[in-house]
Amino acid sequence: MHLPQALIALLAATSALALPQVTKQGRYLFTPDGNRFYIKGVSYQQQGTVSASGVPGAFPEPTDFIDPLVDAQGCARDLPYITSLKANAIRVYSVNSSLNHDSCMNAFSQAGIYIILDLAIPVTGSINRAQPAWTTGLLDVYTATIDAFLQYDNLLAVNVGNEVVNSDATTESAPFIKAAARDIKAYLASKNSGALVGYASTDGSDTTDDWRDPLANYLACDSEATSLDLYGLNNYRWCGSTGSFDTSYASTVAAYSNYPIPAYFSEFGCVQDLPRLWNEVPVLYGSQMIGEWSGGLAFSYFPAVGGYGLVNISSDNTSVITGSDWSLLQSEFSNVTFIESPAESAAPATSPVACPGQNSSFLASTSLPPTPDAAKCACFRDSAFSCPYTGSPTNTDIQGDLFNYVCNALGQQGANCSIIAANGTTGTYGILADCDAVTQLSWAFSYYYELSNRNAQACDFSGNATANNSITTDMANSAASACLAAVPSGGVFTPTASSAGPSGTGGSTGPNPSSGSGSGSGGGSHSGASAWRTEAGMVGAVAASAVAAVIGAVIALL
Ligand SMILES: *[C@@H]1O[C@H](CO)[C@@H](O)[C@H](O)[C@H]1NC(C)=O
Ligand SMILES: *[C@@H]1O[C@H](CO)[C@@H](O)[C@H](O)[C@H]1NC(C)=O
Ligand SMILES: *[C@@H]1O[C@H](CO)[C@@H](O)[C@H](O)[C@H]1NC(C)=O
Ligand SMILES: *[C@@H]1O[C@H](CO)[C@@H](O)[C@H](O)[C@H]1NC(C)=O
Ligand SMILES: *[C@@H]1O[C@H](CO)[C@@H](O)[C@H](O)[C@H]1NC(C)=O
Ligand SMILES: *[C@@H]1O[C@H](CO)[C@@H](O)[C@H](O)[C@H]1NC(C)=O
Ligand SMILES: *[C@@H]1O[C@H](CO)[C@@H](O)[C@H](O)[C@H]1NC(C)=O
Ligand SMILES: *[C@@H]1O[C@H](CO)[C@@H](O)[C@H](O)[C@H]1NC(C)=O
Ligand SMILES: *[C@@H]1O[C@H](CO)[C@@H](O)[C@H](O)[C@H]1NC(C)=O
Repeated sequence: MHLPQALIALLAATSALALPQVTKQGRYLFTPDGNRFYIKGVSYQQQGTVSASGVPGAFPEPTDFIDPLVDAQGCARDLPYITSLKANAIRVYSVNSSLNHDSCMNAFSQAGIYIILDLAIPVTGSINRAQPAWTTGLLDVYTATIDAFLQYDNLLAVNVGNEVVNSDATTESAPFIKAAARDIKAYLASKNSGALVGYASTDGSDTTDDWRDPLANYLACDSEATSLDLYGLNNYRWCGSTGSFDTSYASTVAAYSNYPIPAYFSEFGCVQDLPRLWNEVPVLYGSQMIGEWSGGLAFSYFPAVGGYGLVNISSDNTSVITGSDWSLLQSEFSNVTFIESPAESAAPATSPVACPGQNSSFLASTSLPPTPDAAKCACFRDSAFSCPYTGSPTNTDIQGDLFNYVCNALGQQGANCSIIAANGTTGTYGILADCDAVTQLSWAFSYYYELSNRNAQACDFSGNATANNSITTDMANSAASACLAAVPSGGVFTPTASSAGPSGTGGSTGPNPSSGSGSGSGGGSHSGASAWRTEAGMVGAVAASAVAAVIGAVIALL
């Protein structure tokens, strides 16, 4: 077959336009020509709605988001500005996977701009540092977003979380982040995608925080399959005229000197004094940093809480208003010459590091939660519950109340909710801890109902449950064992796309930008439903051994 010349020319032109896949080799990023790739760009997401966090010193987190990549006119408006920075990447914190992103993604691609895309969305679609879990609902959000973006050649990396861990206590979230990295990595590989798997960490203080470096190591420890490809640090240590390599970056460079994977500043730009001088830029891309670091992203293109906005947008959304904060960044970014060292062929291979041990400032177990298993959850829902939850599938306030109530009630019977609880410190994950709230409530209600000898009044829960006595205790038991027998051995497997089922509560907030100077934070998590996962409801559990005889259904197994 002979292709017409015009078509051949067109194909050649098209492939020339396609952005090459950036890959990692050892601790560096490379383009296919063997040159190092340094990330240089801005974060690109409008500020979502934030309310006061209630936690002193904590950065407020958004409760909603504006997807910047569905706004074709906005992207067309902003692209010339971003191009004028000589940027090669933007970071976007939350997108809506059901919408069309073609216009923005293609425009950025044609301008040579890659996207680093966070997979989390606020409130229900991110790992909740207060009640961490890695659930079917979260996995669905993440894979749906990946599915929507795999078609674009400029998807550089996906982040499985942003600033989820922000204190000693919240290091308990780390096993869930690492499990997310493991499963998303396997998912991308199954789709033949070369997109890298990242996480963006908040920085800590050298004097008061011991968890930043153990967390970084933990996310690159043990095995390639459970390690990140790309580590982001939201770093605000260099503040204009008072910044210097020695006072701002030297300790960070030292701390990561043996880090095995590529690292970059997933946010930078301290706002102590405006306009920002951006005089850290030549150092960030200079010889003192590039032994480990691969550039960074200035925070933030759009206005953001805290005065981080580089530009304003006119009230009719048609034009961009810049000031000297912008022009100083532009002149610094434009002036960067990338140091092409080492060449890919000379980049040493690296191996995952040893996992850090647990101590009072780093609580994470090396035992990871399993892959969220929607088929298992659906199997239980369909066949094993004699008292299913029939209330609102989405009202997390009601669900939270009901979790508290039923777990307390179980506690008074000498039972507990550990089947639906996860604990990243002990590394124990109940067999339904990855399921959605409907499945979990149905389990707890059914357990209670069985313990109560199927007393009709024991399956009501303010009208949120309806007994199904056509499922006998024996049927429920054998159904539950069949559901468990179908779980892939070891519980870890390559996820498949959108698992359906009720949307989970699972996670919480996420994304959105922002960081306070030095200790930033921005979106990792947000408190969702209730305290039930803390097992507070189980504390009251005493004696009641009389009931122990009546362990039916599901329960006997679990
Ligand atoms: C995504 O967009 C659809 C259509 O506008 C909307 O119904 C849905 O609520 C959005 N999802 C999120 C998470 O914002
Ligand atoms: C401008 O864009 C923002 C963000 O996309 C949107 O919320 C707002 O409604 C737009 N305003 C006008 C006047 O179009
Ligand atoms: C953007 O608007 C804010 C609030 O009016 C103002 O403080 C800031 O200086 C403006 N920034 C630019 C770049 O115009
Ligand atoms: C541009 O970079 C060169 C070489 O690194 C440096 O000497 C010069 O001062 C820089 N200019 C600006 C405006 O930063
Ligand atoms: C915990 O271990 C890390 C090393 O993984 C260490 O840097 C840190 O100082 C330790 N913290 C405490 C409180 O022992
Ligand atoms: C009760 O469970 C059976 C067996 O799973 C199912 O076919 C039936 O639809 C359920 N009844 C109700 C009212 O949910
Ligand atoms: C919860 O119940 C299980 C099964 O009865 C038991 O093995 C476990 O020790 C209990 N956990 C707590 C925290 O009480
Ligand atoms: C479900 O439980 C909640 C909280 O106890 C209660 O407010 C609500 O009325 C119940 N829903 C129904 C449908 O009865
Ligand atoms: C996990 O277990 C540890 C140790 O028993 C406990 O201190 C912590 O509160 C538990 N976390 C949750 C979320 O239940």
